[in-house]
Amino acid sequence: MEVVAAIDQGTESTKVTFYDRRATRVSTARRKHMQLFPRAGWVEHDPQEIFYQVKAAATEAYNKIRHKRPTIKAIGLATQRETVVVWDKQTGRPLHNAIVWNDTRTDSLVRELKKKLGGREALRETTGLPLNNQFSACKVMWLMKHNKQVQEAVTDGRAYVGTMDSYLLSCLTGRVSSAAVTDVTNAARTLLWDIHDKCYSSKLCDLFGIPSTALPNVVSNVEHFGAVTGTSTCLDGVPICGCIADQSAAAVGQGILSPGGGEVKCDFGTGAFILMNTGDGSPVYSPSGLLTTPVVQLGSDAPILWGLEGVVPTAGMAIDWMINQFGIMKSAEETEELLNAAKDTGGVVFVPAFQNYHTPRYSRSIKGMIMGLTQATKREHIVRALFEAICFEMLEIVECMCRDTSKMHIGGIDKIMVSGGMTRNRPFLQMASDTLQTSIQRGEQEATSLGAAIVAGLGSQFWKHQEVAWLAGRGGEQLHPSIDIMEWQAKCDRWNDVIQRVAGGTE
Ligand code: G3P
Repeated sequence: MEVVAAIDQGTESTKVTFYDRRATRVSTARRKHMQLFPRAGWVEHDPQEIFYQVKAAATEAYNKIRHKRPTIKAIGLATQRETVVVWDKQTGRPLHNAIVWNDTRTDSLVRELKKKLGGREALRETTGLPLNNQFSACKVMWLMKHNKQVQEAVTDGRAYVGTMDSYLLSCLTGRVSSAAVTDVTNAARTLLWDIHDKCYSSKLCDLFGIPSTALPNVVSNVEHFGAVTGTSTCLDGVPICGCIADQSAAAVGQGILSPGGGEVKCDFGTGAFILMNTGDGSPVYSPSGLLTTPVVQLGSDAPILWGLEGVVPTAGMAIDWMINQFGIMKSAEETEELLNAAKDTGGVVFVPAFQNYHTPRYSRSIKGMIMGLTQATKREHIVRALFEAICFEMLEIVECMCRDTSKMHIGGIDKIMVSGGMTRNRPFLQMASDTLQTSIQRGEQEATSLGAAIVAGLGSQFWKHQEVAWLAGRGGEQLHPSIDIMEWQAKCDRWNDVIQRVAGGTE
């Protein structure tokens, strides 16, 4: 049996999945890694632990199908974005824990930069992104300011600064002292990459104090990234033929790839990431405050497919929090039952802003809140209020997408393809369809893994480009809006009112 291995290295865990020629999942294993919270708002990962979990998951998934004597033809790597690692060029050892995408320690640094540069939009023309603490360059700047060892190693040319993909590529290929590599979808989230010139901007490298020699080379998503060496796992000797940011991988897995654009996907993980394909022409700017970002580049000669993205930073994470910290349920599966148990929220409003509120408001003054509690409040009201809040945040993003693309005639969204753990919850998807007044289609649940497998399969000729259409975008059940528009409007108005009061509107 010939298979492709997909590594999906996410915020909470790492999954390794093997796909056969028909793109059927034949084996999978998942390993969690530690979430380190040294202070309120700080989130770190141990990069070496993540590499260990990649190897452990690969071994576990392989052992399940060992008896079938599989031949692994290629590996595709999808990773969490923006999370930053600084590692020694000679030893490959990280010099600090990874600072994770949703870490907010750079708040005051970002505030200072906004003041200096003239506001949140100062870098949008070059990077497609607002000045915001999610993006890697702010985290690196903070590290260099607060960690002398990192600062010296980076300025002396002894360390690489990269996102999780480039660190793992270095580890997997044993390529310690030769050049580090990343791909366009990850590089574009550093706040250093110029979306017009398609290379790092020397002005931005200077602004953030990061020498370009410390940065990985940027290539397309379908390339030969080197063969795995020295891991003592089933992956040794196998070429890595695809590397891609996880949300882009989810878009590939959902088949959001038409050159004319127009399709939308939402992947629910730690957060919810809504991405609209805007086509392979020029990048589309977002006056509404969304992110302009590459969806994918399927080979060095292929055009970049562009997208507009909105981020709901707290989604699955709030469910984990309700289970592990709040203790109001035992498992995520219970949420379905609890949603069915309550017709409304009993007046409860949940603002799940565990980090700052993101696209399009970017308000720092909102923090997580649960309001409107009474003696009659039941846990199902709180759970329902959380799911409603996620839907309202999604609505705000989708409205921005429609506005920003209306001139391109792709503003009318007729359905959203969804993936990720939360899509198992049918009442939630119905609620999303009602709130967004749009059809929601369950796509491939593990769209990120499938997308990573597809780019690797293309890079190794395991699959041909013409086959992508049937490999990706396998749609499942479709849910349609079912509630009265007036009822829906009243709920939205109430939500906007609350957010307006607690956040003071858009920053
Ligand atoms: O930008 C952060 C994103 O890539 C994280 O995705 O699925 O790990 O929550 P996920």
